[in-house]
Amino acid sequence: MDDALILRLENSFNLLAPRAEELVDRFYASLFSKNPGVREMFPSDMAKQKQKLIASLVLVIQNLRTTEKLAEPLRKMGGRHVGYGTKPEHYPIVRDTLVGVMSDMAGEQWNDQLTADWNGALDFVSSVMLEGQQTAIQATTDRAAA
Ligand code: HEM
Repeated sequence: MDDALILRLENSFNLLAPRAEELVDRFYASLFSKNPGVREMFPSDMAKQKQKLIASLVLVIQNLRTTEKLAEPLRKMGGRHVGYGTKPEHYPIVRDTLVGVMSDMAGEQWNDQLTADWNGALDFVSSVMLEGQQTAIQATTDRAAA
């Protein structure tokens, strides 16, 4: 990840960080209104979930210069998502919803470059989480076969 890209991701996140609660409120509202089928995967009380999502985004942003530190936590997080019923095809939906809400909230301070930057960053996060999902599924299959 080059320095200019890292700075664009950090600056755009810092711009929205003071409104992090609004960001996650709008994210889940948009996700559930456009994809009603995923609502039942989540708990009815979303308060803790919203805080956890913010914390995971902060973790990613804080480690853009040390992405090797993200591999383990993101793989483990992906593994836990097997139990939530998350499928690979859900990841682009989550990405596009999140980037859409960030863009709406940032208004004139957003641009197509930032959309491309965030799509790339979230594709990276998703790919590491999916490795973790795959490993978790494989472990279950191996145990069943043993
Ligand atoms: C950028 C990708 C994603 C990130 C950063 C993320 C982050 C998180 C975090 C931090 C949690 C809290 C629990 C834990 O750490 O295990 C969580 C839970 C959850 N996520 Fe994700 N997630 C992502 C993608 C998805 C996708 C694609 C789906 C599919 C709809 C999904 C559905 C869920 C569900 C259903 C829960 C569990 C709620 C519960 O039962 O408590 N996530 N996610």
